[in-house]
Amino acid sequence: MARLVVPALALVVVTAAVLGLARWHPFSPTVPAATLNVFEGDPVRGASVFAASCAGCHGADGTGGVGPALRDSGINGAKVIVVVGTGQGAMPAGLVSGQDAADVAAHVASIAK
Ligand code: HEC
Repeated sequence: MARLVVPALALVVVTAAVLGLARWHPFSPTVPAATLNVFEGDPVRGASVFAASCAGCHGADGTGGVGPALRDSGINGAKVIVVVGTGQGAMPAGLVSGQDAADVAAHVASIAK
């Protein structure tokens, strides 16, 4: 009898553990909301964000300075979001975030094309 009960109990325990973990999913990856670009960019508002946070390095008109020219660079908004979020070379990460990042990306995209 024990030859059947032990494997049967083991099966129940393992099944419960697996299903329990699946339901609990303690290790599911969570993406910080700030890294998701769920914001609609406003290029007009973005121009003032740019003046405050970017112009010091990229020039008031985006033609470059310490940082490379962004005007007429062909760079798109998605790339701007990534660079602003992660930083690149001498440019520090996270200068702006959230709505400000979306707005400044829309502004840069509008002067880049
Ligand atoms: C402290 C100076 C500094 C500030 C402030 C700064 N940047 Fe930069 N940025 C740089 C430098 C330097 C690079 C070039 C990095 C490299 O590739 O080595 C750069 C690169 C970039 C690039 C990538 C250009 C390319 O063609 O790869 C983008 C886009 C950009 N910056 C956008 C912004 C925006 C938007 C802001 C304002 C939120 C900003 N930067 C503020 C210095 C700065």
